[in-house]
Amino acid sequence: KKGIQVAIDGPASAGKSTVAKLVAKRFNYVYCDTGAMYRVVTLAALDQGIAVTDSTQVSQLAREIKISFAPGEPEQRVFLNGRDVTTAIRQGRIDQNVSAVAAIPAVREEMTNQQRQIAEEGGIVMDGRDIGSTVLPNAPVKIFMVATAHERARRRYVENKAKGIATASLEELQKEIELRDQKDSSRKVSPLVQAPDAVRLDTTSLTIDEVVDRISTIIEKTL
Ligand code: C5P
Repeated sequence: KKGIQVAIDGPASAGKSTVAKLVAKRFNYVYCDTGAMYRVVTLAALDQGIAVTDSTQVSQLAREIKISFAPGEPEQRVFLNGRDVTTAIRQGRIDQNVSAVAAIPAVREEMTNQQRQIAEEGGIVMDGRDIGSTVLPNAPVKIFMVATAHERARRRYVENKAKGIATASLEELQKEIELRDQKDSSRKVSPLVQAPDAVRLDTTSLTIDEVVDRISTIIEKTL
């Protein structure tokens, strides 16, 4: 049996990727971080000195570059034309520019096509902003994870520290998160929105294990 498509969406730093990875492991599914793909396009543009507002050039770049993933512990590795950019795509300058790149319709079209190919065979947990609403509208399991902005900033802060990433203050992180959510929710193409058939999960006062258990129960009922 191949397994189903599981779509996990929600605002920035709601814990989607942490949870999605663990769910994928539990069911022996593939995990795909679609946010990482938009981050790679952003990094490529910044590296080449292309303005993130230049939709023509950024779209062309999105079609030209090769984005790939490889298993890794504790983190899946992300590659841009074969170069390991796993850490580079988590920089503050990427956080600040990625929403502009993700708002370009032709960039979304290219990423959406690649994501559908990755998910085609099933047995996949894919996280992002528009997976349940646009990329995989027929996914049998759709989760919309939310948490207060304060809690999400706190989690990000702790995560940055643990990873040794130079981190902004808690207040700055909360501001950045709120600004990014606002941009992602208000863009014209595939904005961040809960699909009507998605299960909303407020994780503010839940542990990672509790969230993984809840999603696993939903998947088991669907299989
Ligand atoms: O999930 P992550 O925070 O890494 O995503 C980075 C950015 O990529 C988001 O803020 C959003 O602008 C964009 N994104 C998107 N659609 C997705 C996943 C991410 O627009 N499916």
